[in-house]
Amino acid sequence: MAQPVLSRRAALGMVGLAGLATAAGCGNSVGGGPSGGSGSSGGGAVKVGLVIPQDGVYTPLGVDLRNGWQLYLDQHEGKLGGYEVETVIADEGEGPDTGVPAIQGLITRDNVDLLVGIVNSASALGSVEAIAAAKKVLVIANAGAIAVTGQARNPYVWRASFTNAQAAFAMGEHLAGQQPEGGVYLMAPDYAAGQETFVAFKEAYVGGGGTIAGEALTPFGTTQDFQPFLSGIPGSGAGATFVFYSGGEAVDYVTQYAEFGLKDTVPLYGSGFLTEGSVLEAQGEAALGIQTALHYSTEIDNAANADFVAAYSDAHGVLPTCFAVQTWDSALVLDLALAEAADLSGDAISDALAGLGEISGSPRGPWVFDGQTPKQIEYLREVQQGDGVLINAVVDELGEYAQ
Ligand code: PHB
Repeated sequence: MAQPVLSRRAALGMVGLAGLATAAGCGNSVGGGPSGGSGSSGGGAVKVGLVIPQDGVYTPLGVDLRNGWQLYLDQHEGKLGGYEVETVIADEGEGPDTGVPAIQGLITRDNVDLLVGIVNSASALGSVEAIAAAKKVLVIANAGAIAVTGQARNPYVWRASFTNAQAAFAMGEHLAGQQPEGGVYLMAPDYAAGQETFVAFKEAYVGGGGTIAGEALTPFGTTQDFQPFLSGIPGSGAGATFVFYSGGEAVDYVTQYAEFGLKDTVPLYGSGFLTEGSVLEAQGEAALGIQTALHYSTEIDNAANADFVAAYSDAHGVLPTCFAVQTWDSALVLDLALAEAADLSGDAISDALAGLGEISGSPRGPWVFDGQTPKQIEYLREVQQGDGVLINAVVDELGEYAQ
Protein backbone atom coordinates (compact mmCIF):
# COMPACT_ATOMS: atom_id res chain seq x y z
CA MET A 1 0.00 0.00 0.00
CA ALA A 2 1.35 3.42 -0.95
CA GLN A 3 2.34 5.75 1.85
CA PRO A 4 -0.57 8.11 2.45
CA VAL A 5 -0.12 11.71 1.40
CA LEU A 6 -0.99 14.52 3.81
CA SER A 7 -3.90 16.39 2.27
CA ARG A 8 -4.20 20.15 2.22
CA ARG A 9 -7.05 19.99 4.74
CA ALA A 10 -4.99 17.88 7.12
CA ALA A 11 -1.97 20.12 6.63
CA LEU A 12 -4.07 23.13 7.52
CA GLY A 13 -5.16 21.41 10.72
CA MET A 14 -8.83 21.79 9.81
CA VAL A 15 -9.61 18.13 9.81
CA GLY A 16 -13.05 16.89 10.63
CA LEU A 17 -14.31 19.70 12.82
CA ALA A 18 -17.16 21.11 10.78
CA GLY A 19 -20.43 20.42 12.55
CA LEU A 20 -18.77 19.06 15.68
CA ALA A 21 -19.17 20.75 19.03
CA THR A 22 -17.69 19.82 22.40
CA ALA A 23 -19.93 19.48 25.41
CA ALA A 24 -18.03 21.29 28.14
CA GLY A 25 -20.28 21.41 31.16
CA CYS A 26 -22.85 23.70 29.62
CA GLY A 27 -23.84 21.90 26.44
CA ASN A 28 -22.72 24.19 23.67
CA SER A 29 -23.48 23.18 20.12
CA VAL A 30 -23.09 24.25 16.54
CA GLY A 31 -24.40 23.42 13.12
CA GLY A 32 -27.83 22.14 13.97
CA GLY A 33 -31.44 23.00 14.18
CA PRO A 34 -33.75 22.43 17.10
CA SER A 35 -32.84 19.58 19.42
CA GLY A 36 -34.74 16.72 20.94
CA GLY A 37 -36.56 14.94 18.19
CA SER A 38 -37.15 17.65 15.68
CA GLY A 39 -38.03 16.83 12.12
CA SER A 40 -39.01 13.72 10.25
CA SER A 41 -37.30 11.49 7.71
CA GLY A 42 -36.32 13.58 4.71
CA GLY A 43 -35.97 16.83 6.66
CA GLY A 44 -35.22 18.40 10.02
CA ALA A 45 -32.26 17.84 12.28
CA VAL A 46 -30.94 15.10 14.50
CA LYS A 47 -28.74 15.87 17.49
CA VAL A 48 -26.14 13.18 18.16
CA GLY A 49 -24.03 12.86 21.29
CA LEU A 50 -20.58 11.46 20.44
CA VAL A 51 -18.90 10.08 23.57
CA ILE A 52 -15.19 9.48 23.00
CA PRO A 53 -12.07 9.51 25.18
CA GLN A 54 -10.12 12.74 25.05
CA ASP A 55 -8.04 11.88 28.08
CA GLY A 56 -6.24 8.80 29.46
CA VAL A 57 -4.98 5.50 28.02
CA TYR A 58 -7.52 5.42 25.18
CA THR A 59 -7.05 9.00 23.91
CA PRO A 60 -5.59 7.82 20.54
CA LEU A 61 -8.77 5.77 19.95
CA GLY A 62 -10.87 8.88 20.52
CA VAL A 63 -9.11 10.69 17.69
CA ASP A 64 -9.77 7.85 15.24
CA LEU A 65 -13.39 7.49 16.37
CA ARG A 66 -14.06 11.18 15.83
CA ASN A 67 -12.36 11.11 12.42
CA GLY A 68 -14.38 8.10 11.22
CA TRP A 69 -17.65 9.74 12.28
CA GLN A 70 -16.77 13.02 10.59
CA LEU A 71 -15.56 11.30 7.41
CA TYR A 72 -18.93 9.63 6.92
CA LEU A 73 -20.74 12.93 7.44
CA ASP A 74 -18.38 14.76 5.07
CA GLN A 75 -19.10 12.11 2.44
CA HIS A 76 -22.88 12.41 2.93
CA GLU A 77 -23.53 16.17 3.00
CA GLY A 78 -23.60 16.17 6.81
CA LYS A 79 -26.84 14.16 6.81
CA LEU A 80 -28.08 10.83 8.14
CA GLY A 81 -31.34 9.44 6.78
CA GLY A 82 -32.21 12.89 5.41
CA TYR A 83 -31.68 14.65 8.76
CA GLU A 84 -29.10 17.40 9.12
CA VAL A 85 -26.70 16.16 11.81
CA GLU A 86 -25.55 18.21 14.76
CA THR A 87 -22.83 16.39 16.72
CA VAL A 88 -22.10 17.22 20.35
CA ILE A 89 -18.88 15.64 21.63
CA ALA A 90 -18.47 14.63 25.28
CA ASP A 91 -15.25 13.34 26.83
CA GLU A 92 -15.53 9.74 28.01
CA GLY A 93 -12.16 9.97 29.75
CA GLU A 94 -10.51 6.72 30.81
CA GLY A 95 -13.34 4.82 32.47
CA PRO A 96 -16.82 4.84 34.03
CA ASP A 97 -16.11 7.61 36.57
CA THR A 98 -16.05 10.04 33.66
CA GLY A 99 -17.76 8.01 30.93
CA VAL A 100 -21.10 7.49 32.68
CA PRO A 101 -21.55 11.19 33.64
CA ALA A 102 -20.65 12.12 30.05
CA ILE A 103 -23.54 9.96 28.80
CA GLN A 104 -25.91 11.34 31.44
CA GLY A 105 -24.97 14.93 30.55
CA LEU A 106 -25.67 14.39 26.86
CA ILE A 107 -29.09 12.98 27.71
CA THR A 108 -30.24 15.45 30.35
CA ARG A 109 -28.31 18.64 29.61
CA ASP A 110 -27.86 18.49 25.84
CA ASN A 111 -31.09 16.64 25.11
CA VAL A 112 -29.54 14.66 22.26
CA ASP A 113 -31.74 12.43 20.12
CA LEU A 114 -29.31 9.52 20.16
CA LEU A 115 -25.78 8.61 21.23
CA VAL A 116 -22.73 7.07 19.57
CA GLY A 117 -19.36 6.08 21.01
CA ILE A 118 -17.99 4.60 24.28
CA VAL A 119 -14.61 2.90 24.22
CA ASN A 120 -14.31 1.34 27.65
CA SER A 121 -16.34 -1.78 28.53
CA ALA A 122 -16.83 -0.65 32.12
CA SER A 123 -18.25 2.70 30.92
CA ALA A 124 -20.62 0.84 28.62
CA LEU A 125 -21.77 -1.49 31.39
CA GLY A 126 -22.28 1.50 33.69
CA SER A 127 -24.40 3.36 31.11
CA VAL A 128 -26.91 0.67 30.20
CA GLU A 129 -29.46 1.66 32.86
CA ALA A 130 -29.34 5.38 32.02
CA ILE A 131 -29.89 4.57 28.34
CA ALA A 132 -32.83 2.26 29.14
CA ALA A 133 -34.41 4.91 31.38
CA ALA A 134 -33.99 7.66 28.77
CA LYS A 135 -35.18 5.38 25.92
CA LYS A 136 -32.55 6.86 23.59
CA VAL A 137 -30.57 4.72 21.20
CA LEU A 138 -26.86 4.27 21.94
CA VAL A 139 -24.78 2.81 19.11
CA ILE A 140 -21.61 1.57 20.79
CA ALA A 141 -18.70 2.33 18.51
CA ASN A 142 -16.11 0.36 20.43
CA ALA A 143 -16.66 -1.10 23.94
CA GLY A 144 -16.78 -4.89 23.68
CA ALA A 145 -18.52 -5.79 26.99
CA ILE A 146 -20.61 -8.82 26.16
CA ALA A 147 -23.44 -8.21 28.64
CA VAL A 148 -24.58 -4.86 27.21
CA THR A 149 -26.06 -6.62 24.20
CA GLY A 150 -26.38 -9.94 26.03
CA GLN A 151 -27.54 -10.61 29.59
CA ALA A 152 -28.10 -6.91 30.40
CA ARG A 153 -29.52 -5.99 27.01
CA ASN A 154 -32.28 -3.49 26.48
CA PRO A 155 -33.79 -2.49 23.11
CA TYR A 156 -31.84 0.79 22.91
CA VAL A 157 -28.20 -0.33 23.13
CA TRP A 158 -26.75 -1.43 19.79
CA ARG A 159 -23.20 -2.03 18.76
CA ALA A 160 -21.37 -1.37 15.47
CA SER A 161 -18.09 -2.70 16.83
CA PHE A 162 -17.40 -6.18 18.30
CA THR A 163 -17.56 -8.15 21.52
CA ASN A 164 -14.39 -8.75 23.50
CA ALA A 165 -14.98 -12.46 22.97
CA GLN A 166 -14.81 -12.36 19.17
CA ALA A 167 -11.07 -11.76 18.61
CA ALA A 168 -10.09 -13.71 21.75
CA PHE A 169 -12.14 -16.76 20.80
CA ALA A 170 -10.87 -16.68 17.21
CA MET A 171 -7.26 -16.53 18.37
CA GLY A 172 -7.90 -19.21 21.00
CA GLU A 173 -9.11 -21.57 18.27
CA HIS A 174 -6.18 -20.66 16.05
CA LEU A 175 -3.58 -21.32 18.77
CA ALA A 176 -5.33 -24.53 19.79
CA GLY A 177 -4.64 -25.64 16.22
CA GLN A 178 -0.95 -24.64 16.57
CA GLN A 179 -0.40 -26.09 20.09
CA PRO A 180 2.69 -23.98 20.99
CA GLU A 181 5.03 -26.13 23.11
CA GLY A 182 4.75 -25.20 26.79
CA GLY A 183 1.34 -23.56 26.34
CA VAL A 184 0.25 -19.91 26.27
CA TYR A 185 0.81 -17.14 28.84
CA LEU A 186 -2.08 -14.62 29.11
CA MET A 187 -1.90 -10.92 30.01
CA ALA A 188 -4.48 -8.12 29.96
CA PRO A 189 -5.61 -5.08 31.98
CA ASP A 190 -7.69 -5.94 35.03
CA TYR A 191 -11.15 -4.70 34.03
CA ALA A 192 -14.10 -6.07 32.06
CA ALA A 193 -12.41 -6.10 28.63
CA GLY A 194 -9.32 -7.96 29.86
CA GLN A 195 -11.32 -10.37 32.00
CA GLU A 196 -13.72 -11.22 29.16
CA THR A 197 -10.77 -11.72 26.83
CA PHE A 198 -9.29 -14.32 29.21
CA VAL A 199 -12.59 -16.19 29.51
CA ALA A 200 -13.22 -16.37 25.75
CA PHE A 201 -9.61 -17.27 24.90
CA LYS A 202 -9.58 -20.09 27.47
CA GLU A 203 -12.93 -21.42 26.30
CA ALA A 204 -11.58 -21.85 22.77
CA TYR A 205 -7.94 -22.70 23.49
CA VAL A 206 -8.24 -24.94 26.55
CA GLY A 207 -11.42 -26.38 25.06
CA GLY A 208 -9.31 -27.21 22.00
CA GLY A 209 -6.72 -29.07 24.10
CA GLY A 210 -4.29 -26.22 24.88
CA THR A 211 -2.65 -25.49 28.24
CA ILE A 212 -2.31 -22.16 30.04
CA ALA A 213 1.32 -21.63 31.13
CA GLY A 214 0.43 -18.69 33.38
CA GLU A 215 -1.57 -15.47 33.46
CA ALA A 216 -1.46 -11.93 34.82
CA LEU A 217 -4.10 -9.20 34.96
CA THR A 218 -2.35 -5.83 35.23
CA PRO A 219 -3.85 -2.74 36.96
CA PHE A 220 -5.67 -0.73 34.27
CA GLY A 221 -4.59 2.84 33.58
CA THR A 222 -1.78 2.91 36.13
CA THR A 223 0.66 0.31 34.81
CA GLN A 224 3.48 1.94 32.90
CA ASP A 225 6.16 -0.56 33.84
CA PHE A 226 5.21 -4.07 32.69
CA GLN A 227 8.56 -5.66 33.67
CA PRO A 228 7.34 -7.10 37.00
CA PHE A 229 4.54 -8.88 35.10
CA LEU A 230 6.66 -9.86 32.09
CA SER A 231 9.16 -11.53 34.39
CA GLY A 232 6.67 -14.35 34.99
CA ILE A 233 6.82 -15.44 31.33
CA PRO A 234 10.35 -16.91 30.84
CA GLY A 235 10.16 -19.26 33.83
CA SER A 236 6.68 -20.47 32.89
CA GLY A 237 7.96 -22.35 29.86
CA ALA A 238 5.30 -20.71 27.67
CA GLY A 239 5.68 -21.17 23.93
CA ALA A 240 3.53 -18.10 23.15
CA THR A 241 1.94 -15.09 24.85
CA PHE A 242 -1.59 -13.86 24.10
CA VAL A 243 -2.68 -10.40 25.30
CA PHE A 244 -5.35 -7.72 25.15
CA TYR A 245 -3.90 -4.20 25.37
CA SER A 246 -4.95 -1.06 23.53
CA GLY A 247 -4.03 2.62 23.25
CA GLY A 248 -1.17 3.85 25.44
CA GLU A 249 -0.90 0.49 27.23
CA ALA A 250 -0.37 -1.30 23.90
CA VAL A 251 2.61 0.94 23.11
CA ASP A 252 4.24 0.36 26.51
CA TYR A 253 3.53 -3.36 26.48
CA VAL A 254 4.88 -4.13 23.01
CA THR A 255 8.03 -2.01 23.39
CA GLN A 256 8.82 -3.49 26.82
CA TYR A 257 8.12 -7.04 25.57
CA ALA A 258 10.90 -6.50 23.00
CA GLU A 259 13.23 -4.72 25.47
CA PHE A 260 12.85 -7.60 27.92
CA GLY A 261 14.17 -9.94 25.20
CA LEU A 262 10.93 -11.90 24.83
CA LYS A 263 10.11 -10.90 21.24
CA ASP A 264 12.45 -13.46 19.68
CA THR A 265 11.90 -16.27 22.17
CA VAL A 266 8.16 -16.29 22.99
CA PRO A 267 6.03 -15.11 20.01
CA LEU A 268 3.45 -12.49 20.91
CA TYR A 269 -0.20 -12.75 19.83
CA GLY A 270 -3.11 -10.45 20.63
CA SER A 271 -6.58 -9.13 20.03
CA GLY A 272 -5.94 -6.80 17.10
CA PHE A 273 -6.22 -3.53 19.06
CA LEU A 274 -2.65 -4.28 20.20
CA THR A 275 -1.17 -3.11 16.89
CA GLU A 276 -3.83 -0.76 15.54
CA GLY A 277 -3.13 2.69 14.12
CA SER A 278 -0.97 5.28 15.83
CA VAL A 279 0.08 2.78 18.49
CA LEU A 280 1.68 0.65 15.74
CA GLU A 281 3.65 3.64 14.51
CA ALA A 282 4.85 4.29 18.08
CA GLN A 283 5.80 0.62 18.63
CA GLY A 284 7.89 0.58 15.45
CA GLU A 285 10.15 -2.43 14.90
CA ALA A 286 9.18 -3.94 18.26
CA ALA A 287 5.83 -4.83 16.66
CA LEU A 288 7.16 -6.60 13.57
CA GLY A 289 5.87 -10.18 13.33
CA ILE A 290 3.14 -9.88 15.99
CA GLN A 291 0.03 -11.79 14.95
CA THR A 292 -3.42 -10.62 15.99
CA ALA A 293 -7.10 -11.38 15.34
CA LEU A 294 -9.49 -8.56 14.41
CA HIS A 295 -12.57 -7.78 12.34
CA TYR A 296 -10.69 -5.19 10.27
CA SER A 297 -7.42 -4.45 8.51
CA THR A 298 -6.57 -1.70 6.05
CA GLU A 299 -5.37 -4.60 3.88
CA ILE A 300 -8.78 -6.30 3.46
CA ASP A 301 -9.36 -6.54 -0.26
CA ASN A 302 -12.77 -5.08 -1.10
CA ALA A 303 -13.92 -1.97 -2.98
CA ALA A 304 -15.51 -0.26 0.05
CA ASN A 305 -12.27 -0.65 2.01
CA ALA A 306 -10.16 0.70 -0.85
CA ASP A 307 -12.39 3.81 -1.02
CA PHE A 308 -12.37 4.20 2.77
CA VAL A 309 -8.59 3.85 3.11
CA ALA A 310 -8.03 6.34 0.28
CA ALA A 311 -10.52 8.91 1.66
CA TYR A 312 -9.28 8.62 5.26
CA SER A 313 -5.60 8.75 4.25
CA ASP A 314 -6.29 11.79 2.11
CA ALA A 315 -8.06 13.59 4.94
CA HIS A 316 -5.68 12.69 7.77
CA GLY A 317 -2.33 11.68 6.30
CA VAL A 318 -2.36 8.31 8.08
CA LEU A 319 -3.98 4.93 7.51
CA PRO A 320 -7.37 4.38 9.16
CA THR A 321 -8.05 1.94 12.00
CA CYS A 322 -10.80 -0.37 13.17
CA PHE A 323 -11.86 2.47 15.50
CA ALA A 324 -12.47 4.81 12.55
CA VAL A 325 -14.37 2.04 10.76
CA GLN A 326 -16.55 1.51 13.82
CA THR A 327 -17.80 5.13 13.90
CA TRP A 328 -18.05 5.20 10.10
CA ASP A 329 -20.21 2.06 10.33
CA SER A 330 -22.21 3.56 13.23
CA ALA A 331 -23.04 6.46 10.91
CA LEU A 332 -23.82 4.01 8.09
CA VAL A 333 -26.35 2.00 10.10
CA LEU A 334 -27.92 5.16 11.50
CA ASP A 335 -28.15 6.62 7.99
CA LEU A 336 -30.05 3.53 6.88
CA ALA A 337 -32.20 3.31 10.02
CA LEU A 338 -33.15 7.00 10.25
CA ALA A 339 -34.34 6.88 6.65
CA GLU A 340 -36.77 4.12 7.68
CA ALA A 341 -37.72 5.19 11.22
CA ALA A 342 -41.13 6.78 11.73
CA ASP A 343 -39.59 9.43 14.01
CA LEU A 344 -36.53 10.04 16.18
CA SER A 345 -37.80 8.19 19.25
CA GLY A 346 -35.57 5.45 20.61
CA ASP A 347 -38.26 2.87 19.89
CA ALA A 348 -38.64 3.89 16.23
CA ILE A 349 -34.85 3.97 15.65
CA SER A 350 -34.37 0.66 17.44
CA ASP A 351 -37.11 -0.98 15.34
CA ALA A 352 -35.50 0.36 12.17
CA LEU A 353 -32.06 -0.95 13.21
CA ALA A 354 -33.60 -4.36 13.86
CA GLY A 355 -34.94 -4.44 10.30
CA LEU A 356 -31.72 -3.59 8.45
CA GLY A 357 -30.62 -7.08 7.38
CA GLU A 358 -27.19 -7.33 5.75
CA ILE A 359 -25.10 -4.15 6.03
CA SER A 360 -23.25 -3.70 2.76
CA GLY A 361 -20.72 -0.98 1.96
CA SER A 362 -18.73 -1.38 5.18
CA PRO A 363 -14.91 -1.29 4.86
CA ARG A 364 -14.80 -4.48 6.97
CA GLY A 365 -16.96 -6.31 4.41
CA PRO A 366 -20.67 -7.21 4.67
CA TRP A 367 -22.01 -7.92 8.17
CA VAL A 368 -25.34 -8.43 9.92
CA PHE A 369 -26.65 -7.66 13.38
CA ASP A 370 -26.80 -10.84 15.45
CA GLY A 371 -29.25 -9.55 18.04
CA GLN A 372 -27.74 -6.09 18.63
CA THR A 373 -24.08 -6.86 17.86
CA PRO A 374 -22.27 -7.46 14.55
CA LYS A 375 -21.73 -10.99 13.33
CA GLN A 376 -18.53 -10.69 11.35
CA ILE A 377 -15.32 -12.23 10.03
CA GLU A 378 -12.21 -12.26 12.21
CA TYR A 379 -8.96 -11.92 10.26
CA LEU A 380 -5.55 -13.29 11.25
CA ARG A 381 -3.18 -10.37 10.78
CA GLU A 382 0.60 -10.03 11.00
CA VAL A 383 2.57 -6.81 11.44
CA GLN A 384 4.75 -6.41 8.37
CA GLN A 385 6.73 -3.61 6.77
CA GLY A 386 4.56 -2.00 4.09
CA ASP A 387 5.52 0.75 1.68
CA GLY A 388 7.15 3.15 4.17
CA VAL A 389 4.66 2.29 6.91
CA LEU A 390 3.98 -0.73 9.16
CA ILE A 391 0.79 -2.59 8.25
CA ASN A 392 -1.37 -5.41 9.62
CA ALA A 393 -1.14 -7.76 6.63
CA VAL A 394 -4.02 -10.23 6.30
CA VAL A 395 -2.64 -13.76 6.65
CA ASP A 396 -5.91 -15.68 6.84
CA GLU A 397 -9.63 -15.57 7.60
CA LEU A 398 -10.32 -17.23 10.96
CA GLY A 399 -14.07 -17.54 10.46
CA GLU A 400 -17.30 -15.71 11.26
CA TYR A 401 -18.09 -14.88 14.89
CA ALA A 402 -21.28 -13.70 16.56
CA GLN A 403 -21.83 -12.50 20.18
C1 PHB B 1 -13.12 -2.22 25.92
O1 PHB B 1 -12.96 -1.72 27.07
O2 PHB B 1 -14.11 -2.88 25.64
C2 PHB B 1 -12.11 -1.99 24.88
C3 PHB B 1 -11.17 -0.96 24.98
C4 PHB B 1 -10.23 -0.75 23.99
C5 PHB B 1 -10.22 -1.57 22.88
C6 PHB B 1 -11.13 -2.60 22.75
C7 PHB B 1 -12.08 -2.82 23.76
O3 PHB B 1 -9.32 -1.37 21.90
